[in-house]
Amino acid sequence: MAIRRGELVGMPTETVYGLAANAFDAQAVLRVFAAKGRPRFDPLIVHCADLAMVRTVAVLSPRAERLASLWPGPLTLILPRLACIPDAVTSGLESVAVRIPDHPLALALIRAAGVPLAAPSANRFGRISPTTAAHVAEQLGDAVSVILDGGPCRIGVESTVLRPDPHPVVLRPGGVTREQLSVLLHESVALADREGRSDSLPQEAPGLLASHYAPGAPLSLRPAGSLWPADAALLAFTGTDLPQGSTAAILSPTGDLGEAAARLFAQLRRLDALAPVRIVAELVPEHGLGEAINDRLRRAAGLG
Ligand code: TXA
Ligand code: MG
Repeated sequence: MAIRRGELVGMPTETVYGLAANAFDAQAVLRVFAAKGRPRFDPLIVHCADLAMVRTVAVLSPRAERLASLWPGPLTLILPRLACIPDAVTSGLESVAVRIPDHPLALALIRAAGVPLAAPSANRFGRISPTTAAHVAEQLGDAVSVILDGGPCRIGVESTVLRPDPHPVVLRPGGVTREQLSVLLHESVALADREGRSDSLPQEAPGLLASHYAPGAPLSLRPAGSLWPADAALLAFTGTDLPQGSTAAILSPTGDLGEAAARLFAQLRRLDALAPVRIVAELVPEHGLGEAINDRLRRAAGLG
């Protein structure tokens, strides 16, 4: 199969589509970086089918064991790595990012390959993450042997990246909320400040990757309390105060953050495809999944 031959596969997950390669094959992993145009210092997530497979690549602390009860699911743990994982995957770090995705096609692909799969989101570096197979084909169609079509992604934003030890810290807010993590762990879970966050990963190079999830048109955030501008395509949360006749996308008319997350990237792409002069987006309430949605909107606006 393609993975065994060192080729790349478009893989649906519950969060976003991934660009998957055999995590044990350094050459295949380097092809992932090349296809995305991704800098080699930004490490990849290793996707496993079950906990037994996770234990072949990483060491789980007691806190990590507890967090593993959320798998399969949109949670990535940063764990001490074992030697079988090539440096290309971890960018030379002593830790490895691991998760078990909650999608039948992803799990079937990993099981059929018989190896863990290193997979970043299947977009060109810095661009909007894909939530349908068509999005993958648009940006990376030439790089992949196969795209498995699992339909639109259920969660719609990437996994939460969490470093469990010595104290739990979220490096990237995502599909599992900090509230859920705190309840599970019976302790508070910190959110790394933006400089230290995972998408601007190397602490050695803060701010280097400020622009992320970026559409082609410049995107800015609507200042709280201001009116919607007339000359822009608008990305609204509930859309209650949109001006008549505006070019706009609404994330969730009922104000449901889960629905808003699931629609975020596809709606951003839809507005962008209209080739507007600019896009103006509003932030959503900063709790639950709102933390992940606002993180992506700020990054799309280049605010890192
Ligand atoms: O939902 C997701 O996580 C998707 C699907 C495909 O699983 N994947 C994804 O991968 O979003 P990617 O490569 O776009 O984001 C992985 C994040 C990056 O911000 C990277 O810096 C961080 O995980 N990361 C990977 N290894 C790390 C490590 N050892 N320490 C800290 N952060 C790490
Ligand atoms: Mg990504």
